[in-house]
Amino acid sequence: MDLELTEAQRGARDVARRFAREKLGPIGVEADRSHRYPAEAIDELARLGMLGIFLPEQYGGAGLDHVAYSLVLEELAVECASTAVIMSAHCSLASWPILGLGTAKQKSHFLPKMATGSWLGCFALTEPQAGSDAAGQKTRAVLDGDSYVINGTKNFITNAPQSKVAIVFAMTQPDKGHHGISAFAVETDTPGWAVTRVEDKMGIHGAHSAQLSFLDMRVPRENLLLEEGQGFKVAMKTLDGGRIGIASQALGIARASLEASLKYAQERLTFGKPIAQYQAIQWKLADMAVEIDAARLLTHRAATLKDRGEACTKESAMAKLFAAETAMKSATEAVQIHGGYGYTKEFKVERFFRDAKITEIYEGTSEIQRLVIAASVLESR
Ligand code: CAA
Repeated sequence: MDLELTEAQRGARDVARRFAREKLGPIGVEADRSHRYPAEAIDELARLGMLGIFLPEQYGGAGLDHVAYSLVLEELAVECASTAVIMSAHCSLASWPILGLGTAKQKSHFLPKMATGSWLGCFALTEPQAGSDAAGQKTRAVLDGDSYVINGTKNFITNAPQSKVAIVFAMTQPDKGHHGISAFAVETDTPGWAVTRVEDKMGIHGAHSAQLSFLDMRVPRENLLLEEGQGFKVAMKTLDGGRIGIASQALGIARASLEASLKYAQERLTFGKPIAQYQAIQWKLADMAVEIDAARLLTHRAATLKDRGEACTKESAMAKLFAAETAMKSATEAVQIHGGYGYTKEFKVERFFRDAKITEIYEGTSEIQRLVIAASVLESR
């Protein structure tokens, strides 16, 4: 792995950093307070070409790689973790399965609109009784003529209220377990699609996670991704990339926690000197800095493998696991360093603490990442 960033990667990171520093900061604070979807931030990202960052130029994308994508998400998450996950769900979970697994017709129909952000996307896998056990799908799709009729309920679907496209998973042959699941690219104006509840969450308030209900939703057969029964594979391959996105978001939250702590520790005086002069604080700062760098290296390794078209299941699980736990630890230490002030809404670290937690849960909990990693290391013995 080359540790030197290319000019294109540095360019994308610098554009995202400038946007984040100049505009996203106040949007992040306000979206958290009001639970408002940061539409102006997403519009600006669309204008900057970020919503199609790794889509090829033939579909209107920027044609960059997953390392550039990770760098951009990290910069965004420093200021607004909600904006970062909105982009991550759109790019990794909705656009990538069409790019990587779709037909030529599906690509030319969906990707140009997704690259410009005029169609935002989401990924409808999780159900009330199928979270970690993603194969336990209850949603049904029944072939009727040239279309599938889909009925069921989905849960915690990031971007669902704003999306124009959804990757929907449903059982076509329930007796076949995970081999009976199929995946569909669905336009959300299809009759039968309904957003039934938007969750009131602990953090990432600007990213809306919703419950969906499908009632006799008729989806053309040509919208099937891969073959019937290959939906579980679609989900797993997609999550290999999605976990790189969440690792990058977690990295941004961790970095924001460190940056806030460095500033506060040099300003805050106790017993006549800045708290940064005490070893108790220095050790926390040092651990945060080391773990953030380690998380970034793991994330860029997974991104590099993905760009080379090599298997990255274990590596993206490692990156997501370590970056999420680094975000949670860094945010916890940041609150501790800020003391009583860190527990108030006057300081951003309180938000980082709430936003960090979800990175250990969505797109596969830390426990699921450990299972994926263990399966891989045991297999290689
Ligand atoms: N790529 C391709 N195929 C894969 C794969 C991968 N990464 N991982 C597994 N598979 C295939 C296997 O090869 C196997 O195929 P065959 O049966 O044909 O041989 C099949 O999938 C089943 O594999 P396993 O036996 O390993 O599956 P399992 O049931 O034991 O475990 C799991 C699977 C890892 C626990 C999986 O269910 C999982 O990842 N669960 C977590 C789901 C998740 O991350 N959900 C988050 C949803 S998105 C979200 O959070 C919402 C949002 O909007 C942000």
